[in-house]
Amino acid sequence: MYFPHTLLLSFAALATAIPLSRPALNCFDITVPVEVDANVLTFDVAPFTDTYQSKEFLVKSIARDANPAALVGNTTQLKKTYNIAASYCEPLHPSTQAKTLQILTHGLGFDKSYWSFGNATYNYVQAATTAGYSTLAYDRIGVGASDHPDPYLDVQAPTQVAVLTQLTQLARDGKLSSRIPKPEKVVHVGHSYGSLVSNALAAAQPSLSDGLVLTGFSHNSSFTSSFLWPLSFHLAREENPRLFGGLSSGYLTWGDKYDNQAAFFNYPFFDTAVLEQAEKNKAPFALAEVLSITAVPLAAPQFKGPVLMISGQFDLAFCGGDCAGILEGPYSLTPFVFPASSDLQTYIQPNSGHGLNLHLNASAGYEVITSFLHTNKL
Ligand SMILES: *[C@@H]1O[C@H](CO)[C@@H](O)[C@H](O)[C@H]1NC(C)=O
Ligand SMILES: *[C@@H]1O[C@H](CO)[C@@H](O)[C@H](O)[C@H]1NC(C)=O
Ligand SMILES: *[C@@H]1O[C@H](CO)[C@@H](O)[C@H](O)[C@H]1NC(C)=O
Ligand SMILES: *[C@@H]1O[C@H](CO)[C@@H](O)[C@H](O)[C@H]1NC(C)=O
Repeated sequence: MYFPHTLLLSFAALATAIPLSRPALNCFDITVPVEVDANVLTFDVAPFTDTYQSKEFLVKSIARDANPAALVGNTTQLKKTYNIAASYCEPLHPSTQAKTLQILTHGLGFDKSYWSFGNATYNYVQAATTAGYSTLAYDRIGVGASDHPDPYLDVQAPTQVAVLTQLTQLARDGKLSSRIPKPEKVVHVGHSYGSLVSNALAAAQPSLSDGLVLTGFSHNSSFTSSFLWPLSFHLAREENPRLFGGLSSGYLTWGDKYDNQAAFFNYPFFDTAVLEQAEKNKAPFALAEVLSITAVPLAAPQFKGPVLMISGQFDLAFCGGDCAGILEGPYSLTPFVFPASSDLQTYIQPNSGHGLNLHLNASAGYEVITSFLHTNKL
């Protein structure tokens, strides 16, 4: 009897398509108390009681006559200590003591696992530690195993920048943990909102960073509305009571994997098993975080280090679905943001959406980043 081995093959493909098991890395987890003293915005928003209200808020904020400035009430001083959960990874070949630490800041909808999502195809931490770097990936406040303070006030851009600033200072002083050596250099790598936070750190504290890699980012904010829509603004605690039942109503998330696809992926350049895993791991974001996107200055005239901005070709959030001419075009503000950078480069990663780590060709993007850092002796 003829046995159709194409059938066998497709079973084999199914069997390997599901597990995206992470490789063994030399990592350990730490929790760091971080003192924040920041000037933050207060917002005139009545706390939501259900998703009808949060959805209406979203509809109003992308409407033709939206006026987000009207929501900003005042500023206030926030002086608090937050517990930050982080994962530190050493270079894969411990004989080479790492000289450069990469601090990895994730974006909205993800937690620190964005950077070590799966096997080598989707694992930035593996690529970096293989290349001899140590990495510190942390959950921003309001996310994952870090503290979840008031999403209508505490969890906003200036606070996130203050947290990254303190973490960086502790890392430079060798005070993150007795097991983490002082690095010679520190590079900040961000994704999306994490790129905003990393850029803002370089603007406010230029001496704290030796280099920036801004992924899933641009300095053109014209496209925010089309990105906000798939973020959907469901109350996280209603969307998934089992996982998010204890969270304040100011923690929001989207409805399903297709919203996730629209915001972060570009079809067909991803594995649907990866989308499903990203949906399973999704992290709620805070209302104040969204409302404070423009609250941190990005212009970094004193920052002299190298800067790589790398975004997916079809990035919806920061390029309106087509990065050509946005990252590097004549209207791009990026050269004005980093006028003193020793090496400012932009790069469009082909066949990728906003969540470029989760696309089929992600690992080729890691090589672009690593070779940029090596070229700059970092
Ligand atoms: C990672 O897993 C995916 C899905 O199972 C597979 O297609 C890919 O080849 C794997 N990558 C590596 C480097 O093993
Ligand atoms: C903003 O705060 C300052 C200082 O607390 C206060 O004097 C002022 O009235 C407040 N303004 C508004 C619009 O609430
Ligand atoms: C943003 O991109 C649009 C093209 O869609 C362009 O018209 C506009 O000038 C750009 N703005 C900035 C600040 O780069
Ligand atoms: C994969 O990414 C690399 C690095 O950006 C790029 O040179 C290559 O063209 C990409 N391949 C595909 C099929 O998108």
